[in-house]
Amino acid sequence: MKAQRKSKQVMISTICLGAVTLWSGLAHSQMPTDIKSYAQACMNELTENGSKPITFPPVLQCADGPILPITQDSVAIPAQTSADGSMFTDTTKCDRPPLLDISSGGIGQCVPNSRLRVTQVPQTSVEAKDKPYYALLCRNYQYRSLDSQALNPEYDDVAMIVYSPLNHKTCFFQRLANTQIRDLPQEKSAFAAIEALPGKDIPSPFSSNADTFWDNPDVVKRINCARCHDANPFVRSPYAFQVTKDANKLPNRTFGEAYAIFHLDQFGAEWKKYHAYFKIEDHSYGTPGACLNCHNLGPGFSSGDFTEYSAGKLAPGQLDSTTFTLTHWMPPGANKDTWETRFRASVKAMLACNADPAKDNCKRVDLH
Ligand code: HEC
Ligand code: HEC
Repeated sequence: MKAQRKSKQVMISTICLGAVTLWSGLAHSQMPTDIKSYAQACMNELTENGSKPITFPPVLQCADGPILPITQDSVAIPAQTSADGSMFTDTTKCDRPPLLDISSGGIGQCVPNSRLRVTQVPQTSVEAKDKPYYALLCRNYQYRSLDSQALNPEYDDVAMIVYSPLNHKTCFFQRLANTQIRDLPQEKSAFAAIEALPGKDIPSPFSSNADTFWDNPDVVKRINCARCHDANPFVRSPYAFQVTKDANKLPNRTFGEAYAIFHLDQFGAEWKKYHAYFKIEDHSYGTPGACLNCHNLGPGFSSGDFTEYSAGKLAPGQLDSTTFTLTHWMPPGANKDTWETRFRASVKAMLACNADPAKDNCKRVDLH
């Protein structure tokens, strides 16, 4: 019921948007609705209209990214062969499950053998540290052994974020094997539901055959990436953070206005609601701002569920642990003896701001 009502609302707002487009047709003649022109418009922004050209790889391989470990008490659950599949059920728990709830699409949270690739791509006339990053996340919702992945890499959800540290422009790309796993009306996907997505030789969204793989921007819009990617382009969950180091490192986080969502006006108010952060200036221990000493938290999942999970509440699929830093993973290396007095007030303040972001003391700052 709830899901139905939601999709109707989305439909209505889409129709209104259509009317506005017609009305202001000339001003918005570039408004892309298909993946190829969406990607082209993104590339124009990342390259500052071609003045700083980017060499983006024409095809992408999920296998280039390291496997996101699924462990119990720090020991990896074996996932080599199809026989190992019996160890992964909807009640399997693990130390660092993905924080995105994927349980509706498969066998619970602790699914093995997903991969995350992070790398920089060459861009002319741009300093090394500012060259664009892409993160390619290939998620399994079903069990697939390493053996079968070696022969035929397949996934259920392939998502990519391209981010320029130079101008902070951020583009979101998505392909779901079955849009129903994300509460989306099937007909809104550019594609029919299929068993699994190929993880090999994926055309880049910027290539001429991008439309053979990537969903159109209306699917991206409906998923509303900004709900979770709210104050920062990347979500550094403990699950993701396991592999985002060394050669596979995400860019350093910067405070303030370092995150501009490409196509945001077209994604609309539902996205803008989350594209913000709470700017509480006093970061002293024991105060509402203590958690904001190293990074921002946005009014979406960051200051809500994710903050709760970082502060003692078990995430779906998370193994209960006596290791304090696994149940209280913020700040990194937190000390059990001082945590309550230093951070409890800030966690409470963040949850209150999440419930009512307009409150004066939350100091919500829009990023757009
Ligand atoms: C309901 C919350 C949620 C939504 C909505 C969401 N994501 Fe994410 N995303 C996450 C979380 C959490 C992670 C970190 C991995 C994990 O713990 O699951 C993540 C990680 C990623 C990553 C890997 C790099 C990183 O940030 O760690 C990519 C790429 C990505 N998401 C793309 C997308 C795209 C594209 C969309 C919209 C089409 C989207 N996401 C929507 C929660 C979300
Ligand atoms: C000492 C610096 C520091 C402080 C203080 C800190 N964090 Fe973090 N936070 C990090 C780092 C580094 C990461 C990414 C790596 C990780 O998961 O360990 C992160 C990631 C997160 C994430 C994952 C999603 C995201 O935004 O990428 C959440 C949620 C979060 N922190 C909440 C909090 C909360 C709540 C507090 C207060 C209890 C807090 N942080 C205090 C450094 C800090």
